[in-house]
Amino acid sequence: MMGSEITITTSSPDETKKLGEKLGRLLRDGDIICLYGELGAGKTSFTQGIAKGLNVEKAFITSPTFVLVNEYKGRLPLYHIDLYRLNNIAEIEDIGLSEYLKGKGVTVIEWAEKAEDLLPEERLSVYLENLGGDKRRLSFKAMGKRYEEIVAKIQM
Ligand SMILES: Nc1ncnc2c1ncn2[C@@H]1O[C@H](COP(=O)(O)OP(=O)(O)OP(=O)(O)O)[C@@H](O)[C@H]1O
Ligand SMILES: [Mg+2]
Repeated sequence: MMGSEITITTSSPDETKKLGEKLGRLLRDGDIICLYGELGAGKTSFTQGIAKGLNVEKAFITSPTFVLVNEYKGRLPLYHIDLYRLNNIAEIEDIGLSEYLKGKGVTVIEWAEKAEDLLPEERLSVYLENLGGDKRRLSFKAMGKRYEEIVAKIQM
């Protein structure tokens, strides 16, 4: 669909965070953001920006690599999930992914491909690629009208 997919290249971690912040400011209860990309692509950096855009007070957001889910209080609750260490659907169901997805607040999922079968049809997917050095390419793909609106605003 027209305008539902955009690509932005950033040249520093800060630029990626700023872009995340812009997205964070647009988010509402129930929004789901799925992040894809190799180790070090910038998924957590982008999430730090989202947190800022949600007015999360905590300055330092780390990858929830060991706890799998980090919850933050902002103008909306933020659930930051990292599925990297999970290897099968049963494990992913065990962390209560569906509850987060159905619940209030914003859910951001790193390594979302691991949960593909559990994800709702409507969501925003962001694909991050390392272009070398400090360059990263972020491709936003909206699935559903709600997310098409968001993507259109990010492009502005
Ligand atoms: N333009 C950029 N955007 C984001 N990060 C960048 C950029 N340029 C360099 N970096 C560096 O790349 C790394 C990105 O790390 P980050 O933890 O955000 O990646 P990740 O995708 O979450 O990785 P993982 O899969 O291990 O969780 C950081 O060290 C950051 O400083
Ligand atoms: Mg990460």
